[in-house]
Amino acid sequence: MHAAPQGSIGRVVIAADDLAARVSELGARITTDYRGRSPLLVGVLKGAFVFMSDLGRAIDLPVELDFMAVSSYGESTKSSGVVRIVKDLETDIKGRDVILVEDIVDSGLTLRYLRSLLGDRNPASLEVCALLVREGANTGDVKYFGFPIPPDFVVGYGLDVAEHYRELDSIRVFEPE
Ligand code: IMP
Ligand code: MG
Repeated sequence: MHAAPQGSIGRVVIAADDLAARVSELGARITTDYRGRSPLLVGVLKGAFVFMSDLGRAIDLPVELDFMAVSSYGESTKSSGVVRIVKDLETDIKGRDVILVEDIVDSGLTLRYLRSLLGDRNPASLEVCALLVREGANTGDVKYFGFPIPPDFVVGYGLDVAEHYRELDSIRVFEPE
């Protein structure tokens, strides 16, 4: 078991209702934009798993799902600056309409890395759907996103600190000691 992180759960930044409403909107937009096609949603584990599950069900098209796992953070709230593939896709994405599903774009390092990696595999199209984008981060690369988020480290709705708090149904601030 992972040791409890040193800190506590603070205020709610995005309530469960607001998350649900925004995910429905994103699903509706993707449904319109990909009408007649069958997009492949590529979720970035583990943080995106809750968002991916809700988003997949909010899209009224025959989607396929696959997952990758990358690691850019250790058991801390600071990036190590290194992205590493922990689990690759099972699907051949050549010629597919790929939507990369991310929990949060913070520095943008993970996104840049995954975009170039997946782009090299010749998908028909490649877009990004991120639930959260850190205020000030470059969103030019992110076609679909849920909410801008202040600089605080947040947990819940899939996001963790040292593997804790992924199960919270809202996005909340984590206050380190
Ligand atoms: P980036 O590579 O700096 O954009 O970081 C992306 C990854 O860092 C995300 O997919 C998260 O796993 C993690 N991350 C960044 N900020 C937070 C946060 O506030 N809470 C939890 N995880 C975060
Ligand atoms: Mg994480």
